[in-house]
Amino acid sequence: MGYGRLEPSEPGGSLNANQPDDATSLPPPLSAPPPTRNKKKLIFLSVLSLALIVASAASAVILVGLRTRAGQPGPLLARKPTQAISKTCSKTLYPSLCVNSLVEFPGSLTASEQDLVHISFNMTLQHFSKALYYSAGISYLQMDPRVRSAFEDCIELLDDSVDALSRSLGSVAPTPGGANNGNINIFNREDVMTWLSSSLTNQDTCTEGFADVNGDVKNQMTEKLKDLSELVSNCLAIFAASESDDFAGIPIQNKRRLLEETDTFPRWLAKRERRLLGLPVSAIQADIIVSQDGNGTVKTIMEAIKKAPENSTRRTIIYVRAGKYEEDN
Ligand SMILES: *[C@@H]1O[C@H](CO)[C@@H](O)[C@H](O)[C@H]1NC(C)=O
Ligand SMILES: *[C@@H]1O[C@H](CO)[C@@H](O)[C@H](O)[C@H]1NC(C)=O
Ligand SMILES: *[C@@H]1O[C@H](CO)[C@@H](O)[C@H](O)[C@H]1NC(C)=O
Repeated sequence: MGYGRLEPSEPGGSLNANQPDDATSLPPPLSAPPPTRNKKKLIFLSVLSLALIVASAASAVILVGLRTRAGQPGPLLARKPTQAISKTCSKTLYPSLCVNSLVEFPGSLTASEQDLVHISFNMTLQHFSKALYYSAGISYLQMDPRVRSAFEDCIELLDDSVDALSRSLGSVAPTPGGANNGNINIFNREDVMTWLSSSLTNQDTCTEGFADVNGDVKNQMTEKLKDLSELVSNCLAIFAASESDDFAGIPIQNKRRLLEETDTFPRWLAKRERRLLGLPVSAIQADIIVSQDGNGTVKTIMEAIKKAPENSTRRTIIYVRAGKYEEDN
């Protein structure tokens, strides 16, 4: 459109007013105008008009560019949450995060409430994967041993969470060949709750690890792991609300109870310790072995504790062999 309007207006437009001795208005009285001059002018004019065409084309492109940008000023404004999204998110503890993260996710705007369960799982999984990818990307940074240890724990925990979320998604995603109602497998409900809860615990553990350190790595990790716990919490709420029979009425705050019931370890035990305690003895490399028969490093638990290094940057594992230890402290 810019082409058609600008080009014809050129010869009779403002250009003419500024340059009266235009090629078209070249007065006949000039009996023998040097042809070269004329030619030069023509060339000059055509160059000028070409420049104008280019300029108008460029401005058209810029206009189009601006318009498409203005057309979608951030997906949040353009994409209104559907009724299903609003309803689903109203059940969560972080409804606006829920809405904002869902509307951006492919397929959410046409999804039913039922579909939104696996879509929120998937969306959360993608956030975790991204967080893992970007967190692992800063491992080249200089870190003192304590920070390094916290950092590496977080990476491992994130990896674990990605795994747990993938399994959860696998359980709730509609099976391709399955029945149309694509329903959630009842048998997996508890597993799914446990997996989701474990990713929540992982986030806590990761945060705990950075609790008494400061600096750039901590700040960067905080930024990269932003919203992850909230997203999982929302998944738990959405999942819990997705079937009215057994899980309805269990508020999301009670998720910990489930964790306690299904875990053999007490709740205060962090993920790392659970993992360690879950290992077979043969897989554990103990630093100090307590054994009454003298086959260990030391004979009493007290000696072992004294032997453990102070302010160590790594965990000291004391393995106490079976036996009855009666010690006076
Ligand atoms: C999860 O989302 C991704 C990206 O939108 C998609 O390719 C994938 O099929 C989804 N997975 C499931 C199980 O829905
Ligand atoms: C302690 O070590 C000795 C020799 O290495 C071995 O004969 C004995 O059975 C060990 N005792 C136990 C309880 O393992
Ligand atoms: C361990 O740390 C504490 C407090 O930071 C300090 O008082 C103590 O001297 C340290 N011990 C050793 C063996 O470095």
